[in-house]
Amino acid sequence: NGLQDKLYKRGKHYFGACADPNTLNIASNVAVLQREFGQVTPENSMKWDAVERTFHRILHNFRELMYVDIDAASRGQFSFGNADTLVNWATSNGKLIRGHTLVWHSQLPGWVNNISDRATLTTVIQNHIQTVAGRYAGKLLDQILAWDVCNEIFEENGTLRNSVFNRVLGESFVTIAFQAARKADPTAVLYINDYNLDSVNSKVNGMVSLVNRVNQANPNTIDGIGTQMHLQAGMGSTSQAVLTALAAANVKEIAVTELDIVGAPSNDYTQVVRACLNTPKCVGITVWGVSDANSWRSSSTPLLFDRSYNPKAAYTAIANIL
Ligand code: G3I
Repeated sequence: NGLQDKLYKRGKHYFGACADPNTLNIASNVAVLQREFGQVTPENSMKWDAVERTFHRILHNFRELMYVDIDAASRGQFSFGNADTLVNWATSNGKLIRGHTLVWHSQLPGWVNNISDRATLTTVIQNHIQTVAGRYAGKLLDQILAWDVCNEIFEENGTLRNSVFNRVLGESFVTIAFQAARKADPTAVLYINDYNLDSVNSKVNGMVSLVNRVNQANPNTIDGIGTQMHLQAGMGSTSQAVLTALAAANVKEIAVTELDIVGAPSNDYTQVVRACLNTPKCVGITVWGVSDANSWRSSSTPLLFDRSYNPKAAYTAIANIL
């Protein structure tokens, strides 16, 4: 009776964690995933530079040597080894998947960053999304439950980030990306996802305004808002206000997509879980890793399981309120 079963019984779809082949290699990590979690999010394997850059990596040293620009060589060279490993593991273990992520300014191959005309960038976005989201669409079990279509597209003041997507296409890239994702995988729930949406701040307001604007112009374009929630101790106290504000946008659902909290204080973790429980549109919670051993911010011990994969106090606190 892991966290998944407990949260599901409280009316939510999933309690998930990120994973990838590097952590699916660790038996004790896999045991926790199997026992506790009902959904996995690929931590890195579906990012643009992970699926369309292998050729670039192979040739990287050669380029340095030859002083030639062969960055463009990665274009169209897709490699899905790690992503397929994650998807196959999830399928054979009965776990849902949140696809992560299709359009993001980071982990982006150089050749995409260098595109300067609208027609080319539009086609490149559409082709990327069709190839990646299309690959896992309509398969057994409807493999991908949701996609983070656009990730981290806002500045802290709520305006759009200065990315190649915004510079070349302006706000229209959002609709282009979501429409491409809908076409590629008509059954996936399509999300916009961001960080620092941790109090009702300018970024939250910018997010809500953009989502409402896009969905007003083209109804049912954006289905959900994801708040990552990479928190510090004490920040759980504003989580209810944030989820309420996000749920007030014109979307079907919201989710906590990448939760971790420095020091893993039980109080903050339970505040976030309670906030989701109390917000009807909140469909689930994903923690950004299982064990502190494998966290992107390992030294701040932000997760629910210690370096030996044993549950920490925050785990017990969550289990007790569910
Ligand atoms: O794959 C290369 C490998 O070939 C190389 O030898 C090695 C040397 O450093 O790097 C490997 O890539 C690393 C990758 O993780 C896979 O391990 C990158 O350097 C490293 O920057 C990357 O970090 C990830 C980060 O996103 C950047 O993509 C973290 O694991 C991942 O937890 C983090 O996740 C993000 C979410 O996607 C979006 N929200 C914020 C969150 C935390 O930063």
